[in-house]
Amino acid sequence: IKKMTDLDLAGKRVLIREDLNVPVKDGQVSSDARIRASLPTIKAARDAGAKVMLMSHLGRPEEGVYDEASSMKPVADHLTKVLGQEVRLIKDYLNGVEVADGEVVLFENVRFNKGEKKDNEDLAKQYAALCDVYVMDAFGTAHRAQASTHGVAKFAPEACAGPLLAAELDALGKALDNPAKPVVAIVGGSKVSTKLDVLNALEKVCDQIIVGGGIANTFLAAAGHPVGKSLCEHDLLDTAKEIASRVEIPLPVDVVVASEFAETATATTKNIADVSDDDMILDVGPETAGKFADVLKNAKTILWNGPVGVFEFDQFGNGTKALAKAIAESDAFSLAGGGDTVAAVDKYGVADKISYISTGGGAFLEFVEGKTLPAVAVLEERGE
Ligand code: 3PG
Repeated sequence: IKKMTDLDLAGKRVLIREDLNVPVKDGQVSSDARIRASLPTIKAARDAGAKVMLMSHLGRPEEGVYDEASSMKPVADHLTKVLGQEVRLIKDYLNGVEVADGEVVLFENVRFNKGEKKDNEDLAKQYAALCDVYVMDAFGTAHRAQASTHGVAKFAPEACAGPLLAAELDALGKALDNPAKPVVAIVGGSKVSTKLDVLNALEKVCDQIIVGGGIANTFLAAAGHPVGKSLCEHDLLDTAKEIASRVEIPLPVDVVVASEFAETATATTKNIADVSDDDMILDVGPETAGKFADVLKNAKTILWNGPVGVFEFDQFGNGTKALAKAIAESDAFSLAGGGDTVAAVDKYGVADKISYISTGGGAFLEFVEGKTLPAVAVLEERGE
């Protein structure tokens, strides 16, 4: 793959696809992790003297219409602040834009353009005509074959990977291809069904997989433990048993339960054998957290996707907090990815102790599953 850092960008029209799909509340960006992650790329292009044009999607608006609720305006304002220079938001750009050397502009939401999601060829050609160099840097959207992530790369005069995309592929490759052993993955979340492909892929590289949330409940039930009225996929017990027969899955020995799923629910710690019909398991207990921390202490590579409890409610966050701290204290190469996981990393203040935090949600999971990311594949096809 050709890399942006190998190209001379001075005076060139450089179109950079970032993933600036960030949460917005009351017209303000409420978490700017993805914006911060793309800053080094933007600054590098600007400092090289390029005419920098940024594009991204935000949310999932209806195509072909302008919808203020999905406007990139809050992102342009935020970029202006963190970049220390005005970032103009350009609404009509498909027929050409004037950008000065060293200037940075942001295009309005690409998903307002008809044909964006269907990877329409004419739209892709219009994007391509705007630039001398197209830079794909949106790892978080690399699993989408859309006009701004995929089609444009076929028609732009030059197409390359941006530094963020390159760093993501590097870090994920390091964790999955020939990782230092033992490898431990943490797979949390509510359903086994949505993480089946991930579990199947990880069992091949992991020495142990720590499961959490509803996923753990399904594994507990499969091993014959009571789970009360917890979230559990009873139709997947055989599948869980099969996975557990192929890879070591340490199960909780104690759990934190409540009679309801609520912010005000009272948390009670119980041995797994004492879970009653009326209990909902909402976190792992302290003994389990200690046991998991020991597993993590011995790991040389740690891959983390998904919390082990309902950490949004403080009383059910201790398990996830203990794991976050154990990962922070470990010398292993640690990789965290997925929206909930990054929120947990932030909540427990361990961001600078994790080796790499991915900006990808769906893209991160698809990479772990071993799927081809179309936006990367098209660069490979073109790359010298
Ligand atoms: C994400 O947040 O996972 C990416 O920005 C992709 O968004 P999408 O699922 O709407 O394509």
